[in-house]
Amino acid sequence: MKKLLALVLTGVLGVSLLTACGSSSSASSASSAPAETASTESASAPAETESASGSALDKDTLVIGTNAAFPPFEYAGDDGTPAGFDIELINAIGEKLGKKVEVKDMEFDSLVASIGNKIDIAIAGMTVTEERQKMVDFSDPYYEAVQNVIVTKDSAIASADDLKNKKIGVQLGTTGDFIASDIEGSEVSQYNKAVDAVNDLINGRVDCVIVDANPAQEFVSQHTEELTALEGSQFGFETENYAIAMPKGDTALVEAVNQALKELKEDGTFDKLVAENITGE
Ligand code: ARG
Repeated sequence: MKKLLALVLTGVLGVSLLTACGSSSSASSASSAPAETASTESASAPAETESASGSALDKDTLVIGTNAAFPPFEYAGDDGTPAGFDIELINAIGEKLGKKVEVKDMEFDSLVASIGNKIDIAIAGMTVTEERQKMVDFSDPYYEAVQNVIVTKDSAIASADDLKNKKIGVQLGTTGDFIASDIEGSEVSQYNKAVDAVNDLINGRVDCVIVDANPAQEFVSQHTEELTALEGSQFGFETENYAIAMPKGDTALVEAVNQALKELKEDGTFDKLVAENITGE
């Protein structure tokens, strides 16, 4: 008698489970085979990252977005794939997390919007800003930076006032772009790569270029006869913090990345990467 009751109960439970599965996958025609429906559903969105449902940490491979036109943090290495401080740092972080890391080179301006769909993480010398924080979560900061103003050696530009009504070259969507656009009377030319702005400075199409200090120094070192990089403090620019950007709300990922970053600082790896990649440090 007990056995029979158990069987009946199992049956009822089974049916109600089937019903529940069937009704939750209302879009599917295969309501008689809920298990299959479930696998079809997950297979239909393989490229999606898991920010909505889970953590990117559940994946074996983390897809990393960068913009490899920002030396020494990221640039095209000898084999054309991204190399530089950020790339080495994210590889070291991936290793700590036991994840494979796949780096994608993208336009800087599309990185933030790609986090949580095309990519899991962006590392790109990216400054923490309030605007970006509305869309992504940042790791603890890992590098302090400031904008520089690159000018030709014969330029009279030397102070914030001198930047008014000037033609300013910037990389699109960067903090240099935001600063330039706020300057009174500025005529801002936005390039996909900062180096193209630098070339237009040499060609006389812009009066100066506003770009982060380390890349500014790298670009100027290619043209020491003609160009010089002026300190941002001279123009009243504030210091900025670079951090790693991740899907908003993926706290598990953010915590794991912060923990890895902390360990890399404690074990000396971080300082080693700075010494190997960043001149003047
Ligand atoms: N720090 C600046 C910003 O966040 C510029 C970063 C540009 N990075 C790059 N990989 N191109 O806006």
